[in-house]
Amino acid sequence: MAQLLHIDASPRSNRSHSRALTKEFVDTWLASHPADTVAYRDVGHYPPPHVDEAWIAAAFAPPEERTQQMLETLKSSDDLVDELLAADILVIGLPMYNFGVPSSFKAYIDQIVRIRRTFDFDPDDHEHPYKPLVHGKRIFVMVATGDSGYESGGRSAELNHLDPYLRTIFGFIGVTNLTFVHVGNDEFGGERLADSLLNARARIAEVASTPDRLPVKGERHALIDPGFHETAN
Ligand SMILES: Cc1cc2nc3c(=O)[nH]c(=O)nc-3n(C[C@H](O)[C@H](O)[C@H](O)COP(=O)(O)O)c2cc1C
Repeated sequence: MAQLLHIDASPRSNRSHSRALTKEFVDTWLASHPADTVAYRDVGHYPPPHVDEAWIAAAFAPPEERTQQMLETLKSSDDLVDELLAADILVIGLPMYNFGVPSSFKAYIDQIVRIRRTFDFDPDDHEHPYKPLVHGKRIFVMVATGDSGYESGGRSAELNHLDPYLRTIFGFIGVTNLTFVHVGNDEFGGERLADSLLNARARIAEVASTPDRLPVKGERHALIDPGFHETAN
């Protein structure tokens, strides 16, 4: 039995393609994994706070020296980290904004990439000073874009700072098993959008309904396969 964490980041509601796709993913997943449970986080409608000076002082203070006020400052970050650590599988819906993630999701990332909680730092280790602390999770990302051609080899591939950023930041805390589903052409609409939605749904049917079990520590899992990192547009 696995715990899913379903995160949506679009500020749109019914018109959001990324929300429609994460919902479809979770529904499809639960149909073939009925014992799994789902937690939900909506950063699109309820953005996490931005990091400020008080947050930085609190996060980098040794835990035993934190004041009551520091603990309160870190409360929402602690809650988001606890929620992330409790999950086995993350399902994330993201609109592409200005070739990257929307600022609400960046605020989320700044809250969960936490020293001593999701990564550690050893200044004496010159080779590997940063230590990821998150293990054994996988992430499915549904990305919605107005244009298309962001896939590797596509006409706008070099403008895509969203997919590489997610791989970098989740890899930094230890999650390297990411699978992307893309829907494009929102700005064009019509047949081009309809085709892209069709492809995205077929891709979801493929990756979310596979009979699956979670990898146990140290085991190479059948689904951790380079083929699953390919882009579908
Ligand atoms: C502020 C803003 C910035 C956007 N930037 C991009 C962009 O860089 N590239 C792109 O292809 N589409 C861009 N779009 C279009 C959205 O990615 C597209 O509408 C997508 O479907 C939004 O996701 P959603 O349907 O889940 O809300 C942008 C839209 C907005 C509102």
